[in-house]
Amino acid sequence: MVANPSALFPDAAGRAPAVSERLLAVDSVNLEYHTRERIVRATHNVSFDVYGGDRFVLLGPSGCGKSTLLKAVAGFIAPRSGSISLDGKPVHGPGADRIVVFQEFDQLPPWKTVLQNVMFPLRTAKKLGRAEAKERALHYLEKVGLAAFVDAYPHTLSGGMKQRVAIARALAMEPRVLLMDEPFAALDALTRRKMQEELLRLWEETRFTLLFVTHSIEEALVVGNRILLLSPHPGRVRAELNSHQYSHDSFGRIDFQRSVAHIHRLLFEETEPVQ
Ligand SMILES: Nc1ncnc2c1ncn2[C@@H]1O[C@H](COP(=O)(O)OP(=O)(O)O)[C@@H](O)[C@H]1O
Ligand SMILES: [Mg+2]
Repeated sequence: MVANPSALFPDAAGRAPAVSERLLAVDSVNLEYHTRERIVRATHNVSFDVYGGDRFVLLGPSGCGKSTLLKAVAGFIAPRSGSISLDGKPVHGPGADRIVVFQEFDQLPPWKTVLQNVMFPLRTAKKLGRAEAKERALHYLEKVGLAAFVDAYPHTLSGGMKQRVAIARALAMEPRVLLMDEPFAALDALTRRKMQEELLRLWEETRFTLLFVTHSIEEALVVGNRILLLSPHPGRVRAELNSHQYSHDSFGRIDFQRSVAHIHRLLFEETEPVQ
């Protein structure tokens, strides 16, 4: 059963007001892993649309197929059935129009400096000249507050700083959709909150389109303007909700707590199987 978003948040307009063309269409996607012993169904008939300027969140418990879905959108995994398209064109593999930021802190080659890390994909995938790549890399490193660390090597940085580099590297590519798979989950609580605030500030400045994966209800409500709730393994769509009215200031407010409780019920209470 898919809950009506307006029933939960009646005043919600949903997506970013300025832009509204559909960028990403995920239609009845089934994803499977074929191991030697068995077939693991990761998602079942998942459909959603992401519009320009959305901060679209996939929320569900561990093992419900969020990372698999993100990998399918990134083009690393092909759906067993269903389709994924970007700007009306089917996704058949990875591309510079979809860049992923992962949770792990080791996603930066350790032998490259911060600046080289951000420049490298600009040179290879975007085919920018050295001067242009450097200028763009410095621009985004400044945006994430790392202008003073351009010559540092990743192992000298904290986890939060490494994630900032990964975010700068992804944004510098100016992808059609920025994909983030629990990018702050391995950070301490204070740093996580700071990174969420910074991500939202960056979004205010540049209005990129974001597809963000998390298992945290609070993070989903704060980061997202729309949330797709997925049931436990295999992931099916439980509901789609609007959440653009929430920010960190909402913590502790009664309507925020009610939404957390409501989502918790939708995620974990037994419902009749769909189909
Ligand atoms: N490489 C793999 N081979 C087999 N099964 C996998 C593989 N990766 C993930 N799975 C299974 O697919 C399901 C979805 O995994 P995943 O997408 O990582 O979930 P989530 O990101 O929501 O925690 C889980 O049951 C997981 O065990
Ligand atoms: Mg995952």
